[in-house]
Amino acid sequence: MKKYNVAIVGATGLVGSTFIKVLQEKKFPINNLKLLASANSAGKEIECFGKKWIVEELKEDSFKDVEIALFSAGGSISQKFAPIAVKSGATVIDNSSAWRQDKDVPLVVPEVNFGAIGDSKLIANPNCSTIQAMLPLKALKDKYGLKKVNFSTYQSVSGSGMKGINDLLSTRKGEKNSFYPYSIVDTCIPQIDVFLENGYTKEEMKMVYETRKILELPDLKISATCIRVPVLSCHGVSIQVELERDFKVEDVKELMKSFPGIVLADDPSNSIYPVSTMATNNDSVYVGRIRRDLSTDNSLLLYTVADNIRKGAASNAVQIAEKIISNN
Ligand SMILES: NC(=O)c1ccc[n+]([C@@H]2O[C@H](COP(=O)([O-])OP(=O)(O)OC[C@H]3O[C@@H](n4cnc5c(N)ncnc54)[C@H](OP(=O)(O)O)[C@@H]3O)[C@@H](O)[C@H]2O)c1
Repeated sequence: MKKYNVAIVGATGLVGSTFIKVLQEKKFPINNLKLLASANSAGKEIECFGKKWIVEELKEDSFKDVEIALFSAGGSISQKFAPIAVKSGATVIDNSSAWRQDKDVPLVVPEVNFGAIGDSKLIANPNCSTIQAMLPLKALKDKYGLKKVNFSTYQSVSGSGMKGINDLLSTRKGEKNSFYPYSIVDTCIPQIDVFLENGYTKEEMKMVYETRKILELPDLKISATCIRVPVLSCHGVSIQVELERDFKVEDVKELMKSFPGIVLADDPSNSIYPVSTMATNNDSVYVGRIRRDLSTDNSLLLYTVADNIRKGAASNAVQIAEKIISNN
């Protein structure tokens, strides 16, 4: 079996270290691994794939002989270095938001729209909350048609990287908040990323634009409210979706059960529904609380939970890479 030269940009970060973990778990065929980060981490040793690797500072010439580059070092790094990596021959899968809205860059959830990749060498990984919502919405789109979607998210602090985790842990110890505008241990915060002129946050508008692009429904009516909650890992998304055609709740449950990547967790009388502890450290999207929306005809309510660092970031990217190499 062919082995690949893989680079991880942002290898010391939360998503980057999960890339390493997931690549190892999946026994990804690695020939050489290049671990790249800022100058601060250069020289640091990371042990994986049975060897010690030295972290290098990301530079323009870092991508020589690299075949697959997984990026997770923020938007400005991806903006500058992803084209450099592609030019030197790598296929780039980028976790930042830098390229997601570029019409020439496919935005991919493998279970939903892998075919969108075509022969593109730069592929964007969607936002962590968007990814998990795409699986049930794609299933519903194909069977019933989508008319309108309304998201409310419950996003863990790990979605903000190490700064978010550290702020929750220190405020749990009674220290003053240093990252979020309020002490996250005491409250939920209805702001993720900056506010835009339309009153929505950037995170909320990412969910709107990315959903339309992935589902290839450019005119779909969507709105979103994104909330940070005092939970370490996993995001929850409550979805209200108005469908083109009527449905039976039992049929929707069967539909979810059979869709790749989804685990149906919907037995309320036994307290079975998606919770963060269920999704932590695995790659499934848990779907439950499926019921008819009482406020609107042909409308459905459901709740999803997934690990934001795994299915919402690293695992989705590695799944893309696995599918690409298996198609080569
Ligand atoms: N957390 C999530 O749930 C999530 C989900 C989806 C996508 N993402 C995206 O993934 C990216 C990283 O997020 P994260 O949560 O992993 O953040 P993080 O834990 O703060 O890690 C950031 C990484 O970027 C590296 N970096 C920073 N400045 C750099 C530079 N000038 N040159 C090279 N490397 C540099 C850091 O290296 P040093 O250690 O050397 O500073 C570190 O490896 C962001 O674009 C984020 O939007 C995150």
